[in-house]
Amino acid sequence: MAIEETRIVTKFLRDRPQDSWEYAVAREHNQAYSALEAALKRDPNELIEEVKTSGLRGRGGAGFSTGQKWSFLPAGVFPRYLAINADEGEPSTFKDHMLIEGDPHQLIEGTIISAFAIGAHHAFIYIRGEFALGTERLEAAVAEAYKNGYLGKDILGSGFDLELIVHQGAGCYIAGDETGLLSSLEGERAMPRIKPPFPAVQGLFAAPTVVNNVETISNIPHIVRKGGEWYASMGVNKSTGTRIFSVSGMVERPGNYEIELGMSFRDLIEGLAGGVRGGRPMQFFIPGGASAPWLLPEHLDEPLDMDRASELRTMLGSGSIMAFDDTVDPLLVSWRLARFFAHESCGKCTPCREGSSWIEKVLYRMTNGLGRPDDLDLLLDFGSNIVPGLNAPFAQTTICALGPSTMSHVVSLDRCFGAEIRARLQKDFDKRRSLEVTPA
Ligand SMILES: Cc1cc2nc3c(=O)[nH]c(=O)nc-3n(C[C@H](O)[C@H](O)[C@H](O)COP(=O)(O)O)c2cc1C
Repeated sequence: MAIEETRIVTKFLRDRPQDSWEYAVAREHNQAYSALEAALKRDPNELIEEVKTSGLRGRGGAGFSTGQKWSFLPAGVFPRYLAINADEGEPSTFKDHMLIEGDPHQLIEGTIISAFAIGAHHAFIYIRGEFALGTERLEAAVAEAYKNGYLGKDILGSGFDLELIVHQGAGCYIAGDETGLLSSLEGERAMPRIKPPFPAVQGLFAAPTVVNNVETISNIPHIVRKGGEWYASMGVNKSTGTRIFSVSGMVERPGNYEIELGMSFRDLIEGLAGGVRGGRPMQFFIPGGASAPWLLPEHLDEPLDMDRASELRTMLGSGSIMAFDDTVDPLLVSWRLARFFAHESCGKCTPCREGSSWIEKVLYRMTNGLGRPDDLDLLLDFGSNIVPGLNAPFAQTTICALGPSTMSHVVSLDRCFGAEIRARLQKDFDKRRSLEVTPA
């Protein structure tokens, strides 16, 4: 049987790559805003129930139920806000900016419906500063939406008002964390905040706030149009619907693939992405963005299922898969990731601020033949101060999940290549000792 994508949120932008972002085109060929017209005639609570029925879970990283998140807003507390997370900072993730550039009206329509469902009259799209083309198209699309009565006062005569603000970030990873994002929107440095209180209770400007990812919200018009049950009929177990996976690394056809959840890693990596370049053997792969613990070729037949990934002590995270062939040095990959996290740590929590730099330094010497025999154990030892029990990515002593991300790749080195790395460290050490000149 042919291995195929199941395109829902990417269908239109794939079908009309030449002009899918234009208002008139989206309206004529993609029923843009027709789901909004239908949604405004419904009871907001009924829409929340529809989203719950769909089983839709967040596509930004944590995989939390979207309908449930919406229903956490305390009753009768206003104003309340909706913030769309378009920061897409996780290395190797490149799906959201495709949705923004290719189908901004789908995102705007989803945002308006979601704001109506939760009773927000102000919504923000927090977009990564580097997304110049995305910002340009999104701002143009927002202007069209205002012009045509889908935004502003009394939308389509429904009595519902919504202002939508596109806010550009300045390109820092931590601004993608939902509370870091809210701090940044308020004009502060993008530093995460302690939870509780959760944003649903006390978020932007201390008001109840929902933060959702671009892909999550892009699904909403389809769920309204076709129903929650239709959406829930796709996927596997509690991972319903489709997800876009950004596949990169050493594969023949890197790119974004929207697939029904439940497909195996093998069908995605080998079937759709063409397998490892040049037919070389796969050494390992990272299944959910830079923050996710690694998997081995023996896991290729596992399904793309968020809960199964947790059982395998990793995560599907932001929906990105990096594949590495047998020519790659896992220590070099780990050091490169460590360098990223050390650079992006905001410095608020001591274990992350101090730990991420130490991890990078020790990995640097390990990678460059200057390691000490017990360096991997040293890393695991002080890393357990960031990730208790070394249970990355599920435990942390830090406010946000950047802390455990600094240890995910170290834990992976131990799990996947522990014996080889310890032997290599001993060999490097012995070699240096043999070269030592004893003073006369
Ligand atoms: C350091 C860090 C960076 C994050 N970056 C992003 C991001 O770029 N985009 C995103 O949607 N979520 C990101 N998240 C997850 C968000 O905190 C949040 O879970 C998500 O925006 C919620 O939306 P969802 O429920 O629709 O997934 C990040 C989390 C952390 C800890």
